[in-house]
Amino acid sequence: MTKATIDDVEVRGRRVLVRVDFNVPMADGRIVDDRRIAAAIPTLRALLERGARVVVATHLGRPKGTVDESLRVAPLATRLSELLGVTVAVAADVAGESAQTMSAQLRDGQIGMIENVRFEPGEERNDDELASRLAGLADIYVDDAFGTAHRAHASTVGVAAHLPAYAGYLMTRELEMLGSVLDAPRRPLLAIIGGAKISTKIGVVRSLLARVDTLWLGGAMASTFYRALGEETGTSLVEEDQLDVATSLLEQARRGPADLRLPVDVVVAPSPTAGAPTEVVAWKAIPNDWAALDIGPETAAQIADCCASAGTVVWNGPLGVCEIPDFAAGTRRVAQALAESPAITVVGGGDLAAALDSFGVTGCITHVSTGGGATLEFLEGRTLPGVAALLDRNS
Ligand code: 3PG
Repeated sequence: MTKATIDDVEVRGRRVLVRVDFNVPMADGRIVDDRRIAAAIPTLRALLERGARVVVATHLGRPKGTVDESLRVAPLATRLSELLGVTVAVAADVAGESAQTMSAQLRDGQIGMIENVRFEPGEERNDDELASRLAGLADIYVDDAFGTAHRAHASTVGVAAHLPAYAGYLMTRELEMLGSVLDAPRRPLLAIIGGAKISTKIGVVRSLLARVDTLWLGGAMASTFYRALGEETGTSLVEEDQLDVATSLLEQARRGPADLRLPVDVVVAPSPTAGAPTEVVAWKAIPNDWAALDIGPETAAQIADCCASAGTVVWNGPLGVCEIPDFAAGTRRVAQALAESPAITVVGGGDLAAALDSFGVTGCITHVSTGGGATLEFLEGRTLPGVAALLDRNS
């Protein structure tokens, strides 16, 4: 990690603007999954213990520059306050009078939160006037929002042009752990890519094919690859407009060095509904009016074997419709193999992270990334603008 971190700067008595990614799933105004909030606690606690005056900034949802009452940060501040065990003040605006007053009134070791930064029209277009108002709230900027580091917005990039900018502990750990997959990984390096759509994963599959020893594909996206190979896939989800892409990825794999593996068997059902009749069949035997909804036991066992002998495993995306228990067995079996593997294990993506939590194996995984799109872009080998904006160590 070449970026300067909060350990490289004196923060006592100084106002520190900390950009976090508390863009958590919500239902009826309640937080469904607080992992992203919990993940930022070490940075916030360290800053408070070291006497900083902390101003927290996040986005929530996509309000597109207008105030959306359902996307206010109050529930996030309440949860943050519970996790930290201290009161968290909440400003009524992002970088207006209320935020400026709140920031000015903080004493050493106190913390407050500004409103959803995406209520400001300038946020997503990285408007410098907004960046400079945000910078006016603090003396130092800390970015712990790895999940938003692929967005060049005023609160992730613009503000860093106005303040000395450091990485928080979560950002640091994400860069180190995901970086360890790309740079000098312990081999064999195994990648497992699942999820519904290949269209969102083309870049990452292409990048990983050039780096890994073995790449397993699962989830509905495997159907698109099978169709590209001329196989029948019943009513499985196939992205017809991505068949050329799948063909070119198969062609890339044929040239090496990675061994690209597709499921050998699948769990099929007439529809993705709980209680539907299911069968395990070979890929070539999917009935016309049934869909592949999970990898089969033989495929899961083969992936598990690869996990057992791997030096590093990176996994993104569930291998079936795992929010429905009838189609979760493949993802669960591989999750258990990952938990038992002596390899360095790195998992990305909110759906998969939630599934691992429900299987009770999260604690056995080396690193569960808080990023969705950011993790994929990082693994594609791209420079994330929110990371590029931070000070280099010794600069
Ligand atoms: C995410 O959930 O991936 C991040 O918070 C970024 O959100 P966005 O896709 O709305 O920019």
